[in-house]
Amino acid sequence: MLSSDDSDFRFSTGLQNHDEKKSLIKEHSLALSDSKLPRPSNLPPFSLDGPDKNVGKSPRKIITKSPSRARMMPGMSRIPSSNSPKGWSFDDFEHEYNAQQHSPDLRPLSTPRTPALSPRSSFSNLPLMSGMQHPMVQEAEDLLHKSLIYFRGKPIGTIAAIQDGTEEALNYNQVFVRDFVPSALAFLMKGEPEIVRNFLMKTLRLQAWEKRIDCFTLGEGVMPASFKVLHDPVRNTDTMIADFGESAIGRVAPVDSGFWWIILLRAYGRATGDHTLADHPDIQRGIILILQLCLADGFDTFPTLLCADGCCMIDRRMGIYGYPIEIQALFYHALRCAKQMLKPEGEGKDFLERVDKRLYALTFHMRNYFWLDHSSLNNIYRYKTEEYSETAVNKFNVIPDSIPDWVMDFMPRKGGYFIGNVSPARMDFRWFAIGNCMAIISSLATTEQANMIMDLIEARWDELVGEMPMKATYPALEGHEWRLITGCDPKNTRWSYHNGGSWPVISWMLTAAAIKVGRPHVAKKAVDLLEEVLGKDGWPEYYDGKSGQFIGKQARKNQTWSVTGYLVAKMLLEDPSHLGLISLEEDKKAAKPQLTRSVSWNGFMNL
Ligand code: GLC
Repeated sequence: MLSSDDSDFRFSTGLQNHDEKKSLIKEHSLALSDSKLPRPSNLPPFSLDGPDKNVGKSPRKIITKSPSRARMMPGMSRIPSSNSPKGWSFDDFEHEYNAQQHSPDLRPLSTPRTPALSPRSSFSNLPLMSGMQHPMVQEAEDLLHKSLIYFRGKPIGTIAAIQDGTEEALNYNQVFVRDFVPSALAFLMKGEPEIVRNFLMKTLRLQAWEKRIDCFTLGEGVMPASFKVLHDPVRNTDTMIADFGESAIGRVAPVDSGFWWIILLRAYGRATGDHTLADHPDIQRGIILILQLCLADGFDTFPTLLCADGCCMIDRRMGIYGYPIEIQALFYHALRCAKQMLKPEGEGKDFLERVDKRLYALTFHMRNYFWLDHSSLNNIYRYKTEEYSETAVNKFNVIPDSIPDWVMDFMPRKGGYFIGNVSPARMDFRWFAIGNCMAIISSLATTEQANMIMDLIEARWDELVGEMPMKATYPALEGHEWRLITGCDPKNTRWSYHNGGSWPVISWMLTAAAIKVGRPHVAKKAVDLLEEVLGKDGWPEYYDGKSGQFIGKQARKNQTWSVTGYLVAKMLLEDPSHLGLISLEEDKKAAKPQLTRSVSWNGFMNL
């Protein structure tokens, strides 16, 4: 274990004296004033870490004497990486950013300014939800309130599941980045942006840790899967522990966290009208570090992102290694959000160009090669094999015999979807709900494709939704396939958990997607199903069974993202204008699908 001194954590400014640090702060003030944000004088010492008593002392002393800085995991270096441009400390950023927000002159007019949540603040007093009469709404609000996690008195996230004392906490007592997304959306929709801003800034600090697993150092831009806050009642200090994959089952790093962070950053800007956060150099740097990871040159022949199994919501072995649809949809979404927020200056300019190029190729690839409908399935069924790629129709040399029987029955004449994975000689035909819903929300799917996905959901409602919206994957892996693909995972047995289990949280994405394609009745049907059982059943994490009719075998109760999945779906239905927080319009200039056999290769060459 680390000693208490070892556990101290502080950004290394790399600066030797206070004057040097001061001159950088001045430089930053100038940068900010360039963007029409004069630095206010007499900044109040207000930041997430509390007043910095060490201001004015040598940075070196700050590094060694600060007793309650966030703690690191064993095996992690205590020297943070150079996330802050020019070695500027993140504390300075928080300090300056928060000070700006406290200056009345600098508040965007459109920003709803509600007081920061205090441990005593109550959601039930807030006006936005008061119109919702269903008793589950009140219960959900109370649970969301109970799930809040504080760091030095400020709310910074929501716990994955509220413990009832009967179960081992495992890692459900942590704030998961992906789980916090629907909580964040609920707060933004309610006009409570503070917690989201705190979360975005705090996770950016965590990104700057040097992340090491055994002797291997992870990429600078990796965002944590989760973090927790430890409170020491004797010293009255809070410390933070983050997991970048080293504690996760199978040691897999989350690829989705950074993407969700970017998507949330945009949502925060949309909800508050406050773009000073996204514009800040440290946040800009955070975006660039994430992009650096996923736009890096390698041996790739595809614009999709190559990932390990378990790197997203499905965080254990389920045969999604390769190019899983969930990650590709989030990748696309995050690239488009980054494009809106990156400033065309310095590194940002270069990255904007790289983002554009990647988006163009990714859009083409996904809309053509991942897309499956009745006619493309028929084409694949009749594929020839062993063609050389320049002239090939069957570009990935997929063997028609590998088409599973179920997909031939499952595919309606009207409808289609993005399949789970495409790589050489491998098409994973399984349905993945998050990837498809996010493809609609982000407009990775064309309007026509989005409508076809919704056609399929409606045509296959019994299979994909049944009694609980909605199955994460379909169909379930069974028997030999389950043994081989999951490694005999006892949690992912057929029609359970990630393997055909039903997750209430997906309801918010289904609702957003349904509203976007102009079918609120689909969203309403899903919310009605939730209201029949979710509250009575104690807000389980997931349901099991072919129709989602049983509470999941090992499902946690009072799972926060089940609660917020319901709340966000409900709020979206009440006020569809909230969709703008998360949804992107179709980019009409993007590569159009070329689905006919004869033009596919030439079409690509001519793009
Ligand atoms: C499970 C889910 C994962 C989620 C975590 C916390 O591990 O698979 O997606 O983030 O629980 O709720």
